[in-house]
Amino acid sequence: MIVIKNKSSIRKMEEAGALLSGMFDELESMIREGITTDEIDAWIETYLHKRNLVSRMKGYMGYKHVSCISVNDEVVHGVPSSRVLQGGDFVKVDVCASYKGYCADMARPFFIGKVTDDVKQLAEIAERSLKAGIAKAMPGNRLGDISAAIQQVVEQAGFGVVRDFAGHGIGKQMHEDPEILNYGRKGEGPLLRPGMAFAIEPMITIGDYAVCIAQDGWTVCTKDNSLAAHVEDTIVITDSGPKIITRNVV
Ligand code: MF3
Ligand code: CO
Repeated sequence: MIVIKNKSSIRKMEEAGALLSGMFDELESMIREGITTDEIDAWIETYLHKRNLVSRMKGYMGYKHVSCISVNDEVVHGVPSSRVLQGGDFVKVDVCASYKGYCADMARPFFIGKVTDDVKQLAEIAERSLKAGIAKAMPGNRLGDISAAIQQVVEQAGFGVVRDFAGHGIGKQMHEDPEILNYGRKGEGPLLRPGMAFAIEPMITIGDYAVCIAQDGWTVCTKDNSLAAHVEDTIVITDSGPKIITRNVV
């Protein structure tokens, strides 16, 4: 069942989204060569605490961190560790937290020093596919319109769409119905209505889209060890279209 959120729930989600967005702005200057992913996670934990945000990752199925930090061929769910980030690394940070019980979920890519043109292009297409998907989050459209728009942008660029993980409805819970695949057919699936809230998160690869789970039981990597990108925004569908709550654009 897709929960329709009322004004007061949406306001709390917006607060969570604005605070997360501000946090990612600050991460931009923090995430650089020499830092470990553990240190980034610790900084995020402090930020969340200061802003009265509650991590929805820590404790989720035994997960011990407040962020997922995935590097290079790691797609999503990378576990913070003593890994030292190096020049050329392509880092994806994902954080889900709630404000007064309502969640926002957000992921952004970061470049460490000089990265290859491949990395830049992959990041750009991930971003473009996210925007194309969000643009379809209109009342009267169908869920498949979002999925198809993402897939089209990614595949037109010659990249792969990961099939084994997806975006999701979001609200009181980090993961609610529906599952939002990053591939699909337009015109299919449930009708979109105002008050629905979605975390849309394309996961794309430069090579084959097949993925596997690492020894740690969490980290999702590409099977062929090719580069992967992931970006995520939380949006609310309003009468006039999508409202992105994880971007501080005015
Ligand atoms: N934020 C992730 C998502 O987009 C959830 C990661 S799973 C966790 O669905 F265990 F790390 F929380
Ligand atoms: Co998510």
